[in-house]
Parts: sequence; structure tokens; C-alpha cells
Amino acid sequence: VIGASGQIGGWLMRHLAERGHDVVGTYATVAQPGLERLNAGDPEAANWVRQRGADVVFYPAGFTWVDGCERDPAKARAANCLEPLTLARATLASGGRFVTFSTDYVFDGARGPYGEGDAVGPLNEYGRAKLEAERLLTEELGDRVLIVRTCWVYGPEWQGKNFAYQVVRALREGKILRVPSDQWANPSYGPDVAEATIRLVERGESGLVHVAGPEHVDRVGFGRGVARALGFDESLVVGVPTAELGQGAPRPLRGGLRSEKLEGLLPGMMRGLAAGMADFVEQVRRGRARDPIGC
Ligand SMILES: NC(=O)c1ccc[n+]([C@@H]2O[C@H](COP(=O)([O-])OP(=O)(O)OC[C@H]3O[C@@H](n4cnc5c(N)ncnc54)[C@H](OP(=O)(O)O)[C@@H]3O)[C@@H](O)[C@H]2O)c1
Repeated sequence: VIGASGQIGGWLMRHLAERGHDVVGTYATVAQPGLERLNAGDPEAANWVRQRGADVVFYPAGFTWVDGCERDPAKARAANCLEPLTLARATLASGGRFVTFSTDYVFDGARGPYGEGDAVGPLNEYGRAKLEAERLLTEELGDRVLIVRTCWVYGPEWQGKNFAYQVVRALREGKILRVPSDQWANPSYGPDVAEATIRLVERGESGLVHVAGPEHVDRVGFGRGVARALGFDESLVVGVPTAELGQGAPRPLRGGLRSEKLEGLLPGMMRGLAAGMADFVEQVRRGRARDPIGC
């Protein structure tokens, strides 16, 4: 698992081990016990992958800061397209399959939620790099690659970066949290995204699969759902139009993903927001993630 110190990567590690797979994970900058250091941009990285000879290489890595990608398109393309392509070639050369993660930001956000067959049209550098990666990986790896598109991933994680933690950090201090009122997508519970991905791999699936939560909501609904689940004052989550927020990269407004293909393959994998948040609290209580709420 390249990027095992991240949100999805951490849950891939846990679920793979629990399902009896032999697993090795890497970090780039945030060291964690048991993980090896690997920078995908390092010239030695392809050798490292070849030497491991893994059956499957999961790649939940990349430059995931959307506004940062807009400021540095060359870095966005290197980290989100060229580096995974290099490591996918190394995986193929050693007989393995490659699994990578993409985004609803490959769409223009005029008419989401989107299915796998809908026309793409990214609005920002992050989405363009991800789309180019999808195309090149599909061209070169064919049925040896699985591309999981997901969106608005939240849940317990050691680095505590995702939106649910942002909500908690603001609201527990009684601060107002301003979020875009006109951006829509599906909150997707991280542990479920990871488990669904592993089950797809175990079934031998390849190609493009959308793996997202069942509810299509705006950011205010998402933030208030998180607040409600944790007993915070949900009126502190306040909606502001995207145009007034000054975000660095243009955002697809009506984004989000339809996961009917996943539902056909693996029914009932993705929990809704209330059930996801209930599990979040449970995972924190069991010491399986950073505690954002002092529970
Ligand atoms: N989160 C979402 O809502 C969302 C939505 C759609 C798609 N995705 C995609 O899903 C994937 C996983 O997302 P996430 O939220 O789990 O990301 P994340 O928490 O930001 O984790 C990213 C991981 O990539 C590692 N990494 C960064 N630069 C690297 C490099 N040069 N070489 C090797 N590893 C590197 C990070 O390591 P360190 O932390 O140790 O530096 C970390 O382990 C990403 O490809 C993302 O684009 C995420």
C-alpha cells in the first residue's frame, strides 16, 4: 500500500491485514510505526516496487490538496499522474495488478451525481491530472488496473485531516464553520471505501468503479450531519456560496458519484452519513483512530 499513512491507505492496511493478506505499507512524510519510507518521485521507487513483487499494489497516494495543485500544475501532474504511471509499469513488470484512486473532480459539476459512463470535463488541475492518469493507466494496463473513483471521504484517521475533523475542530471551540452552500457530492465513509476496494480486487474486478456513499448532499448538510452525530450545535455550520469563498481552484458544483455498478457487484457496502458517524465514534472509542472529541 503506497500511501499507507493517509486516510484511505490506513484503512486499506487494516482491512487487508484483518482479511488475512500479507501487507506492506509506506509513508512519504508522516512516519508511522511499521511503515516503510517511500517517495513515489524517487528514481529508486520503481525498483522498490519490482523487488516487493506484490500481487497487488494499492496506490491511495498523490498530491491531494486541490488548491495546491492549482498553484503548481507540474507537481500536480507529476504526483497524480506520472508517478503512479511509473509505479504501475513496475507493478505490471513484476506480474502484479495496480489499484488507484480517482475523483468526481474529473467531471464539470453541471449535472452530478455521475455514473461511470458519463462524459468527463475537469475544471481544475487536480481533476485534469487524475483524468490523464485514468486514461494512461487504462491504455497501458488494460484489465490489470482497477480505478476507484470516490469523493468527500471522511471518517477516523490518524492524521486527522478530513472534513469531519475540520468540523469538530471548529465547533468544539464554538466557532462558526463557513462551508460552500452550493457544492454537492456524496459523503463516503473511509473504512467502507477501503473495504469495498479490497473486495473488488478479491473478486478480480478491473476498470473503473465508483465507490461513494449513498447520499447526495451539499456541504452544509454534510457538516451538519457530522455535528449532529457528535452532539455539537449544527447551526454553527453556515453555508456561503462558492463564489464568495475565494477557493484557489474552481470546483465542480453539482458533483458526486452514483455507485450503482458497485451496488450490483457488492450490495450494501457503503454506509450513509449517520451510520458512518456512529461507526466513527465507535472506532475512536476502541482506540483505532485519533480522538477528535474526547470521548
Ligand atoms: N479524500 C477524498 O475525499 C478523496 C476524494 C477523491 C479521491 N481521493 C483520492 O484517494 C486517494 C487517497 O486519498 P486520501 O484522502 O486517503 O489521501 P491522504 O490522506 O492525503 O493520503 C495521501 C497519502 O499519499 C502519501 N504520499 C503523498 N505524497 C507521496 C509521494 N510523493 N510518494 C509516496 N506517497 C505519497 C501520503 O504520505 P504522507 O502523509 O506520509 O506524506 C499519504 O500516505 C488519493 O489519490 C486522492 O486523490 C480522495
